[in-house]
Amino acid sequence: MTTPLLGVCYYPEHWPEERWAWDAQKMREAGLSHVRIGEFAWSRLEAEPGHYTFDWLDRAIETLAAQGLKIVLGTPTATPPKWLVDAMPSMLGVDAFGRPRTFGSRRHYCFSHQGYRRECARIVEVLARRYGSHPAVVAWQTDNEYGCHDTVESYSEAARHGFREWLQQKYQSPEALNRAWGNVFWSMEYRSFEEVDLPFLAVTETNPSHRLDFQRYSSDQVVSFNRLQTDIIRRHAPGRDVVHNFMGWFTAFDHFAVSDDLDVATWDSYPIGFLDRDANSPERRARYMRVGDPDAQAFHHDLYRGCGHGRMWVMEQQPGPVNWAPHNPAPAPGAVRLWTWEAFAAGAELVSYFRWRQAPFAQEQMHEALLLPDSTLNEAWYAARDIAAEIADAGITLPQVRADVALVFDYEAAWAGQIQPQAQSYTYLGLMMDSYRALRANGLSVDIVPARAGAADGYSLVVAPGLSAPTDALIASLKPDEQIIVLGPRTGAKTADFAIPATLPPGAAIQSLIDIKVRRIDSLPEHASVPLADGGALSVWREFIVPGAGTQVLARTADGEGWHFTDADGRVHYLGGWADGATLAATLGDLARAAGLDTLTMHRDLRLRDLGEMRFVFNHGPETVDAAAVLEGYETLIGGALLAPCGVVVAQRVI
Ligand code: GAL
Repeated sequence: MTTPLLGVCYYPEHWPEERWAWDAQKMREAGLSHVRIGEFAWSRLEAEPGHYTFDWLDRAIETLAAQGLKIVLGTPTATPPKWLVDAMPSMLGVDAFGRPRTFGSRRHYCFSHQGYRRECARIVEVLARRYGSHPAVVAWQTDNEYGCHDTVESYSEAARHGFREWLQQKYQSPEALNRAWGNVFWSMEYRSFEEVDLPFLAVTETNPSHRLDFQRYSSDQVVSFNRLQTDIIRRHAPGRDVVHNFMGWFTAFDHFAVSDDLDVATWDSYPIGFLDRDANSPERRARYMRVGDPDAQAFHHDLYRGCGHGRMWVMEQQPGPVNWAPHNPAPAPGAVRLWTWEAFAAGAELVSYFRWRQAPFAQEQMHEALLLPDSTLNEAWYAARDIAAEIADAGITLPQVRADVALVFDYEAAWAGQIQPQAQSYTYLGLMMDSYRALRANGLSVDIVPARAGAADGYSLVVAPGLSAPTDALIASLKPDEQIIVLGPRTGAKTADFAIPATLPPGAAIQSLIDIKVRRIDSLPEHASVPLADGGALSVWREFIVPGAGTQVLARTADGEGWHFTDADGRVHYLGGWADGATLAATLGDLARAAGLDTLTMHRDLRLRDLGEMRFVFNHGPETVDAAAVLEGYETLIGGALLAPCGVVVAQRVI
């Protein structure tokens, strides 16, 4: 059981030192316990090469600690200073048009550059030595938002060199690489690894296997760059949590792999800024304009809780209008409270707002904060204070429990979908989000697990759409005797080398569970869909499937093709298309009940989350909704059954 905590992101270097003590006092008054600092301060920590100026950071930490605040110290490697870039211009990342990134914003480095890595190791080492055992520094954040501003892939000389070595290690011989990639096609064969270039600037699309390997290579660079820092921090800061702040809607590297070196996966939640990123209809965008998509935050909470092996924080929570989306509307009254409680309900140990005081200068001056630039306490300061009081008054502590439903998430499947979408509007994340929505429409709480053998053990219902190339070990670890398993569309569509499986999709391992063959793909333009015999439709993606003997067809399209198949025992299911929300919700609801789970029909704006004996209900819509039906047998600790817009209920099971 943990008590939910609140925090804030603070930049002491932005403000006159005389203000720090007042800031710290107001943080404490708001009930905040944690404050993240330091992640962009390199030019103030080392103004000249090798000339460290840590005295101000010493004093900032002491000032915050004097109010009992706990510090999350960021490493400053997302913002290499000008002198470093000038001394080592080859450290700059290079974009897909071959242009080096320039100095003047942030994240201008290339993950593959060994010289930059040495500089990072140096600054992290001095910081970790100095503050590693400081009693107030309870956690460390590595860098800031790996990959933000499209910076995972770099087409630099350093990356070219690193990629060739990576390929040599993986394939051992150019012949093996040629075979795996199918380079006989279009005379793309190589005689040595030195001949292999990065997959960019070609006349038309480059070989998908080449691109997939480059994405894997680039992802591995993020993992090893992060590990370089975590190894140093762990040496000097024993017992402290090491974290990184991931982003929403971002799949360019394997977040599970990076998280394996962290204690907590944290992420940055900007619900309104994100609303445009989902394939939301104009009607949904209008309805949720001031609260964000009702499933998007929860999806990411569940994903990052999965990455963090059960431990998740929100490192940056939107507190008001932001500055970076196409439009930046103000949150609805109560939205900050709704987001905060939603995060706690999903297991966040800490929700930390971004940022303390709105900066009147530089790039983010239009981004609101807990304080206005003139230090007036802003709406979110009061929201934080009220939430802290609510937690204390109701004596809320939260258990760590797992859900009954596992949604299998795989970053490589996201890359495969991007590399060869086949249908313009296909995105793996979109398909995952629709499956997630459908599960939550049944009142189900979901764990998001990696596509690793054993990760879905113990779940009654396992859902794995779009999982392009599952390993045989993962498929062998599924247990149809104990679990209902739902695969497709597009699950098993490719081999690990990005080829069509020898026995056709979904490949031999899945075919040993359910005897089907995908013989044709019908990729649908945005204006078209395929009606289903029982109502509803498939859009974007539809498969023509040949069932083997013993395979049952549970549902068909109006033109008579099967689209929902199951094995003889009804335990392994395959969906041969991207079904509309209502159909998917009805289908997954049936399968959840078949797996022995209780389902509920949720009002479109309400979302529910069960955490052991606790039940949380949230109203994301613009109208008051009566939630009594989903609170039967529960006593409310916070809120009541009639949920106003942005309403929150925290309840405890009584029977
Ligand atoms: C995040 C980033 C912060 C700040 C914030 C603004 O992506 O980590 O440094 O830029 O966005 O919303």
